[in-house]
Amino acid sequence: MNEIYLDHAATSHPKPKEVISAVVKALSEGNANPGRSGYPRAIQASNTIFEARRALSEILNANDPMEIAFTYNCTDAINLAIKGTVPKGGHVIVSALEHNSVLRVLGEMKRACEIEMEIVFPKKNGYIDPKEYLKRVKRNTALMILTHASNVTGAIQPVDAIGCIAKSMGIPFLIDGAQAAGETETDVQKHKCDLYAFAGHKGLLGPQGTGGLYVKSGCLLKPFRVGGTGSASESIYQPYDVPDRYEAGTMNLPGISGLLEGAKYAFKHKKEIYEKIRFLTDALYEGLSSIRDVTIYTPPNAAFRTGVISFNIGDMSSQDAAQQLYESGFCIRSGLHCAPYAHAFLNTQSRGAVRASVGYSNTFYEIESFIESVYLLSKTQGPTR
Ligand SMILES: Cc1ncc(COP(=O)(O)O)c(C=O)c1O
Repeated sequence: MNEIYLDHAATSHPKPKEVISAVVKALSEGNANPGRSGYPRAIQASNTIFEARRALSEILNANDPMEIAFTYNCTDAINLAIKGTVPKGGHVIVSALEHNSVLRVLGEMKRACEIEMEIVFPKKNGYIDPKEYLKRVKRNTALMILTHASNVTGAIQPVDAIGCIAKSMGIPFLIDGAQAAGETETDVQKHKCDLYAFAGHKGLLGPQGTGGLYVKSGCLLKPFRVGGTGSASESIYQPYDVPDRYEAGTMNLPGISGLLEGAKYAFKHKKEIYEKIRFLTDALYEGLSSIRDVTIYTPPNAAFRTGVISFNIGDMSSQDAAQQLYESGFCIRSGLHCAPYAHAFLNTQSRGAVRASVGYSNTFYEIESFIESVYLLSKTQGPTR
């Protein structure tokens, strides 16, 4: 059976061939510990890490490559951002659309009575109203957090407006860019954020086990993982130099080498990728909307969504629908997508939703055949409305 991959929001697939070659090369002829030794291969390894910082700073429009710290995934970057900024007794404003990578970090800190958190639900149309963040600001508000794009609905959130509010009040602002980097315009200066967490393996087309955090210069975080950095080795304390401060332990050279090539590919082809994802997602949205028993949760506004479309078919559980669609060859995801409050907002906590997510490698034919399979599956269900 030929598989058709529509699960790019989980991880992009297939990776560009340049990414695969770079990983193999880093493990063979390029293998050395970056930032530690002074012989040519080790220096080359350090240069590769620097080139990757430069590529990421270009994609995010950061001022300086040293504002990019590499982490093991986006979750790791979010942990660093939250634990590094919010002091004991701090208050955090966050949206209900967040992934558990954000909610669980805050949930655990709240359970330990370390922080207060307030959750802002979106308006009926699926977008956060920035005024709701403003209303909740308190004397001890230490961080505002918003996902750039929801991993459940694909809705691109008003990060620029929240950035303006945060900046005017002197409150740090963290954007979770896991679903946005490489898929839509990312510009940390325009978003006015202090911290931008990204996953390397989704729209940036790199390998799994990669990610990072943009930390605006002048913003010094308390590192949550400490250890050797290859610098300031005379001291038993974590150095203040960034990004070393946040990158304890041997770095993931094979992963970051692949991420460098993925980010270069995503940046070079960015116009075609954005246009293709938009075109295919619009076609998917239109096609699914025309099926009587399909309920779509993704907002209709094509200008403010990524390649994610979530839906359900009649009364079917999302797991059954995804399984049956897999039997027709489609790789998609069902359930709650690690975003419990987003599903509470959609009223889909009990059965979740089916999520099809389009990526740079999909074709119009694949989208058409997916729509046809959903239509055929919906025909096997009794009338529900
Ligand atoms: C919105 C969002 N944030 C964070 C993450 C976590 O990313 P990672 O699994 O790379 O840590 C995901 C993963 O799907 C996500 O969709």
